[in-house]
Amino acid sequence: MEKHSISFDMEVLSPEEVPAIYQTLIDKALEFREKAYAPYSKFLVGAAVLTKSGLMFGGANQENASYPLCMCGERVALYHSAMAAPGDEVVAVAICVKSPIGDIMQPVMPCGACRQVIKEYEDRYKGDIKIIIRTDDGRVWMVKSVKDLLPLGFDDSFLI
Ligand code: THU
Repeated sequence: MEKHSISFDMEVLSPEEVPAIYQTLIDKALEFREKAYAPYSKFLVGAAVLTKSGLMFGGANQENASYPLCMCGERVALYHSAMAAPGDEVVAVAICVKSPIGDIMQPVMPCGACRQVIKEYEDRYKGDIKIIIRTDDGRVWMVKSVKDLLPLGFDDSFLI
C-alpha cells in the first residue's frame, strides 16, 4: 500500500502587515458586502476580484426564495470580472463575511461550488489565484491557490 498526504501553508497577517493592494481589495469586498441580498440567511458575503491589469470587481451573495438558486458572493464577483474585463487574468479574490451569529474569528473559506469555479479561472488563465479572507478581528488569511483548498480537483483534462 502507498500512502499520500496533502498539506498546505496559510499565511495569517495582522492588519499592519497587509500589502496596500490587498488592503484596497479587502476594502472593495467590504464595500460590496453592503450590496448582499440575503433576507433568508442574513449571512452577508462580499467579495472582490483583482485582475492582472490591476482592475477590481466586486460581488455579493444574492438569495432567492427558492433557496437552491442562491448565488454566492465569490461567484458574482468572478462573473462580474469576466463580463467587465474579459481575458484579464484573475490574480486574487478577497472575501469578507458578516454573520448573524456575531463576529467570526476563523476564516470563512469559499464553499465547494465556489472552489470549483475559482479553479476553472485558474485553469483558464493558467495561474494561481490568491484567496484572501478577512476575519472580524482584522487578521487577513492568505491561501496561495484554490488548489490548496480543492486538492485533486476535477478539471477538463478528462473531457474531450
Ligand atoms: N455564501 C456565499 O456567498 N459564499 C460562500 O462561500 C458560502 C455561502 C452565501 C450563500 C447564501 O446566500 C449564504 O451565504 C448562506 O449560505
